[in-house]
Amino acid sequence: MRKLIDELAASQQLDKNQLLDLIDHINEEDIDYLHQRADKVRKAHYGNKVYMRGLIEFTNYCTNNCLYCGIRKSNKNVERYRLTEEQILECCEMGESLGYRTFVLQGGEDPYFTDDKLVTLINQIKTNHPNCAITLSIGEKPYESYKKYYDAGVDRYLLRHETNSRKLYESLHPNMSYDNRIRCLKDIKEIGLQVGAGFMVGLPNQTNEDFVNDLLFLKDLNPHMVGIGPFMPQKDTPLKNAQSGTAEMTYILLSIIRLLLPKVLLPATTALGSINPKGRENGLKAGANVVMPNLSPTNVRDKYLLYDGKICTGDEAAHCRGCIERRINSAGFAVDMGRGDHVDMNNRKTTTPFPLSSCL
Ligand code: SAM
Ligand code: FES
Repeated sequence: MRKLIDELAASQQLDKNQLLDLIDHINEEDIDYLHQRADKVRKAHYGNKVYMRGLIEFTNYCTNNCLYCGIRKSNKNVERYRLTEEQILECCEMGESLGYRTFVLQGGEDPYFTDDKLVTLINQIKTNHPNCAITLSIGEKPYESYKKYYDAGVDRYLLRHETNSRKLYESLHPNMSYDNRIRCLKDIKEIGLQVGAGFMVGLPNQTNEDFVNDLLFLKDLNPHMVGIGPFMPQKDTPLKNAQSGTAEMTYILLSIIRLLLPKVLLPATTALGSINPKGRENGLKAGANVVMPNLSPTNVRDKYLLYDGKICTGDEAAHCRGCIERRINSAGFAVDMGRGDHVDMNNRKTTTPFPLSSCL
């Protein structure tokens, strides 16, 4: 196994059979070795810095019915909410005063937030916080919408591919298509947004071969960010009785992703912190370099319950900020409150529609 891990670290790739062999047969000692190699690679590119993003969960309305998701349309036990533009701007104010320079606006696919409303909101956030980056995570849209968000100043877009198995994807996402998900990711990237893909770990019927396909897909897409976290059941969903994914498999996959995509921005996710009290710290030690504390108003936190046991649902933003910094320090890392762009992406893609010379 060590030879395979060394080969992965040296060449930043393995073929399908080698990845499967690694995931199928890795033992405790080799797991430690894998994490050490990943830690070393992350340190080579990002030192001991961990980037902080302020997460604003601004709507829990959703037109989709993803089988695993606690805010799916058919869940009648959810009290639905939408933050007003003023509330979202207040979250950003609070965020900047706590030192955040990236705001992640996440929500269900909520038709109330039309492109026009979003563009107005994005303009306002950029006017109030010109030095801050905006990440959007609001699901599948046509090319034109992503382009409008980019033109309004959005820097990054998170859209997990969820699983690269077409069959599994379509069994979990009624009335959605795998092809459209992939089309969205390609459009987002082509437009010039920093793109984040990713998947859940431990979905029902997910195999190690599926993980290998996820890893190969990520290698091929070469995104700026990758979000992975364990699947956790939610009591009002069709998957309420399914087994959770494990923190251990998530750590292994985080390390492999770090070695496949050495410079990628890789969060230690809230789901990982929810399944294990030290999940985020362990995730950082396995190669992750981003955390996303919650900036949403406290009175809506417990309405964005994607899964049971979600942490930080009662805590004030300032409390989360302090708590996570202590955790990051205790794991041997230091908080970086900069924008935290991908190391190869210090500027937005600038397109010159006409070379100046052709106007002369
Ligand atoms: N609507 C947007 C989208 O589709 O990308 C963003 C919101 S969605 C709730 C954010 C992520 O939560 C999903 O990409 C999914 O991976 C994760 N998620 C949802 N339900 C989950 C569960 N039960 N366990 C773990 N993660 C979950
Ligand atoms: Fe839409 Fe989960 S089903 S956000």
